[in-house]
Amino acid sequence: MKQAPKHPVRLERQGNVALIVIENPPVNALGVAVRRGIAAALNAAVAHDKTDAVVIAANGRTFPVGADIREFDMVPQEPSLGQLCNLIERAQKPVVAAIQGTALGGGLELAMAAHYRIAVKSARMGLPEIHLGTLPGAGGTQRLPRLIGPELALDMMLTGNQVGAGIAAEMGLIDLVTDNDLRTEAVAYARSVAVTRPTSANRTHLVDGVGYMASVAARREQVTMELGANALAPHRIVDCVEAALLLPMETGLEVERSAFKDCIASRESEGLRHAFFAERAAAKFPEAAEAKPAQVDRVAIVGGGMMGSGIAIAALQSGFAVTLVEQGESGVNAALERIGAYYERSVAKGRLSEAQGAAALTHLQLTNKLDTLGEADLIVEAIAEDFDLKAQMLAEIGALAKPDAVIATNTSYLDLAALAEASGRPADTVGLHFFAPAQVNKLVEVGVHDGASAQSVMTAQGFARALGKTPVRARVHAGFGAGYIGNSILEAYRHAADIMLEDGATPAQIDGAMRSFGFQLGPYQVADMSGLDIAYARRQSKPRDPDARYVEIADKIVEQGWLGQKSNRGYYIYAEGQRQGVPNGDVLKLIAEHRAQKGITPRKFSDRDIRDRILLAIVNAGARLLGEGVAARPSDIDVVMMLGFGYPRSRGGPMMDADATTPSIIASRLSVLAPEEPALWGAAPVLTMLAQERQKFADLNAS
Ligand code: 3HC
Repeated sequence: MKQAPKHPVRLERQGNVALIVIENPPVNALGVAVRRGIAAALNAAVAHDKTDAVVIAANGRTFPVGADIREFDMVPQEPSLGQLCNLIERAQKPVVAAIQGTALGGGLELAMAAHYRIAVKSARMGLPEIHLGTLPGAGGTQRLPRLIGPELALDMMLTGNQVGAGIAAEMGLIDLVTDNDLRTEAVAYARSVAVTRPTSANRTHLVDGVGYMASVAARREQVTMELGANALAPHRIVDCVEAALLLPMETGLEVERSAFKDCIASRESEGLRHAFFAERAAAKFPEAAEAKPAQVDRVAIVGGGMMGSGIAIAALQSGFAVTLVEQGESGVNAALERIGAYYERSVAKGRLSEAQGAAALTHLQLTNKLDTLGEADLIVEAIAEDFDLKAQMLAEIGALAKPDAVIATNTSYLDLAALAEASGRPADTVGLHFFAPAQVNKLVEVGVHDGASAQSVMTAQGFARALGKTPVRARVHAGFGAGYIGNSILEAYRHAADIMLEDGATPAQIDGAMRSFGFQLGPYQVADMSGLDIAYARRQSKPRDPDARYVEIADKIVEQGWLGQKSNRGYYIYAEGQRQGVPNGDVLKLIAEHRAQKGITPRKFSDRDIRDRILLAIVNAGARLLGEGVAARPSDIDVVMMLGFGYPRSRGGPMMDADATTPSIIASRLSVLAPEEPALWGAAPVLTMLAQERQKFADLNAS
């Protein structure tokens, strides 16, 4: 974020109306300088005998989007946002908030403390604090139920969803929606309102105490059922809304203040805040100093399988013109069926109207003619993960693409530099590694090899952002075996799990231990879902680390013809059409025989052992990627693991978790495990360095 301007708030006059203008780009976050500026301007405005009313407005694209989240970790400075909101509400002259863009969090709380609110039609508002593991802490939990009632207030705060100005006006959150110039309308509106109108005195929604309490009780039960009794922020939101009815405003604000403090001190909020900034940091590429993303209008995708179709849908959803190239008529028809089925499901589920679904498809050109590629600004190769096939296809793409087009390969582990060479245009060729389902998953790894130009890297990064995805840069060295960040770490994860499987644990036990840590699915459930044959093919085609212990169990399962969910049988057995399986007894027998063949006497692992060994392997693999320069910052690894592999977001990712334990403790735990499997648990040099220097991974984020 840019340096905050020295004077981020100005006081202007338009006749008898004082105009307080906030200017703190890019999003007018309410940091201390802004809060002090607003307080000083308000005091001066109200004290002026020519002032009849005050308008609070913001320059730039948006009304404040909230408190400055970076200040949560600093010593609080006065006035707090809560104090400022009280000052606004108690002003002796009417105060009008003029809203454009998105009034979020503390920004909306500030608007609710004003006596009146006017918004442009396109404005949106919301209280997204729940996504940061906290709750509105500047009076929002007390003022919102007074304005719109407990039911809708709880809905907004517990989901963090935004509402448009029109709906907000229907709810009673906004007084006036305008199509005209906001500033002019706000000044005129301020002139027309004669009296102050403190939100805290509004009792409209408090009079039906019984109905109010019923709404609170229903939500409390729902939160407990869906999230458990210990979900901190959601329960405290419900408590605060209850307090809004039962307690005087002053005391309600104290309840909220204390809940807010508890929430932001929680590990969960710390993790979620880290996730917020890590995602934004990941999008910052060093190539930005040399090049800007080029304009992309038409995207071509070669290969219409699951991945190619998913990328096509993502591009259509973001308004790109899309050419999808498949082989022969049958390939084209199969891709059309796949994409058509997606839109049919979306319409059936009400996510899209029929007209929207049909409109999206009009931007799709499906063809079996490669020469159409000449029209595209960016081409994504998404055919089967086979080096020779991909190299041949990239050579054709390189010959057909227009001179300034960017060529991206969706490989996840093949040698990117060699593929780029095969295209004949290495400078124009990068990696774009999407994660399935590509139309949903927010992660895209942008693969950068030594010969890629800054321009092609930035255009690929810009394209990923335009798809609404979070791009993470992976510096894939020529010849580097595993390739990207995600797959390298996944390999370590699976390797640690497989070693325990061979030594005595069961798939269900390992999966259960990782679920209880917070993953949605354990590694063997994921393997069954992805298809055991896919990983098998990868293992067969990739050079193996001769120093690593090889566990043959997964290969033996595939050799039985058990491929996971697709064959209703893998580590688990699935009833037809079901995704929830029961442990496959035959696999347990196969594992027992395998151990006997290798002369392994099974030993017991506790769930704690399982988690520790896996998490240590993940962190160590992350540290190795940092040392090799594949990942630029530890927080990039966190983003990949959270978005790509379901690492619990409330923990902020594995590298943040490692910092919470401290790298020196991680290093000493690794030294205990290292003799069992040095290739996996032998401490990476970066980790050893951090342990010796008493530093944390976060110190590497800052550099
Ligand atoms: N505090 C500090 N920095 C913020 C910020 C905030 N509340 N919101 C955004 N930023 C920064 C981002 O880190 C980014 O900085 P960078 O350029 O250095 O990376 C910059 O502003 C632009 O943000 P985005 O890249 O996210 O821009 P977008 O246009 O994609 O999105 C947004 C804009 C929808 C406003 C999104 O930034 C967002 O969701 N922000 C957070 C909103 C929020 O959570 N508000 C509640 C805060 S908590 C609060 O108010 C507590 C109160 O109740 C007491």
